Amino acid sequence: MPTSRSTPRWGFLNAITILSLSLFQAPFCAANPICTYIKIPITATASNEVFPIPVNLNYSDPAAISALVQTIIGDGDAPFPVIPETFDGTIAAKYCPPEVTVANRSDVIQLFMSGVTENNLYWFGLGYPNGYDGDIYSTVAYASKQGYPTLAIDRAGVGNSTHPDPVTQQQVNVETAIAYQLALKLKAGTAVPDKTFDRVVFVGHSYGSVLGNSLATNHPGDAAAFILTGFGVSGIPVAVDLPQTVPIPAELFATRFAGFNPGYLATSSEPGRRGYLWGRPGSFDVGIFQTDYNQMNVVGLGELLSIEGGLKEAPASTAPVYIVTGDADDVFCLAATCGDGPLSPQAQSCALFPKASACEYFIPVGTGHMISLHYSAQASFAKYQDFLATKGF
Ligand SMILES: *[C@@H]1O[C@H](CO)[C@@H](O)[C@H](O)[C@H]1NC(C)=O
Ligand SMILES: *[C@@H]1O[C@H](CO)[C@@H](O)[C@H](O)[C@H]1NC(C)=O
Ligand SMILES: *[C@@H]1O[C@H](CO)[C@@H](O)[C@H](O)[C@H]1NC(C)=O
Repeated sequence: MPTSRSTPRWGFLNAITILSLSLFQAPFCAANPICTYIKIPITATASNEVFPIPVNLNYSDPAAISALVQTIIGDGDAPFPVIPETFDGTIAAKYCPPEVTVANRSDVIQLFMSGVTENNLYWFGLGYPNGYDGDIYSTVAYASKQGYPTLAIDRAGVGNSTHPDPVTQQQVNVETAIAYQLALKLKAGTAVPDKTFDRVVFVGHSYGSVLGNSLATNHPGDAAAFILTGFGVSGIPVAVDLPQTVPIPAELFATRFAGFNPGYLATSSEPGRRGYLWGRPGSFDVGIFQTDYNQMNVVGLGELLSIEGGLKEAPASTAPVYIVTGDADDVFCLAATCGDGPLSPQAQSCALFPKASACEYFIPVGTGHMISLHYSAQASFAKYQDFLATKGF
């Protein structure tokens, strides 16, 4: 005698159940791709700037730190003496093979560099394996579903990477040399075990985008394309609104930074960080802001002082460039007003890449500085991935 044979009626209900389960489960189960956390040994040397730092600088005085940054960035192109500095350590990074296979993309790796006070988790919607609200803020998850492998690093000095001297070593020039070495290793098959990549797409956010600009200037031909998010043409606005964040030594901010050199800073004002980095209320979920505030990482004073030196014309770089900066970005736009059209900092930024085979930009409306973490994140991801697709990636 046949056992439990479903009637059409039960079959219909089962189908409904399965359908509704999958519908309801999808948003909660969506997670980042499966990644491995690796450590990549790097030795990188570059000429760093020797800034005129007062011998008695009080690192615990936020006004003194902000004033120093404003003075040095305000000097514009005033040349500072340089001295060779070497980073010799390991870079921690999450490597994520793509979830889907797309012809010609499995050998194109997206290399992610976060902004200051952010580690690799910025690219995962602030959590791994589960980001805030699943994967909707995960740049990595989006790229993975488009068929791209990704490498999201903890920059030198943040997360689990080696912490160099935050003033003399942790500057744009040495960090650019690290980015260059990473890209070389990815292409040589010595960064990710048993895997060689043909092309590296550099994806930056904020300070990470400044490193992209500097990479294009100093090592044209290294990256095959640049996606620069939370990026502008001048460092002056960065300095103007820095004081509201109330920078203090990270070791005074949280016990997880105990023993850090006082040149490693954290932003100690919660409303100040919100105003500076997140922009207009309503453009982000307050819960994701809170998560970001609670798990913030550090910024080296040398990074803040050297930003302007990274924002330079890249005269020989032909790689296509795509810029994504919100119209309410308070870091790269004065008074958080970027405007639109050819006078916007986004459009002006293309002047830094005169030989680029293409330079285009997207201005998410109402969005502040944290491009991948705003409500507009999915739109920004779609825009830059479409750009890559039209440029042969
Ligand atoms: C450094 O600045 C902090 C904060 O303004 C102040 O409390 C402290 O007394 C200062 N230290 C010195 C040695 O001036
Ligand atoms: C893949 O790359 C080959 C060689 O570069 C090219 O001919 C082909 O059109 C590409 N296919 C896709 C789907 O982009
Ligand atoms: C650093 O490593 C620890 C131990 O493996 C891990 O728990 C933590 O998540 C890592 N930090 C980041 C930012 O990935």
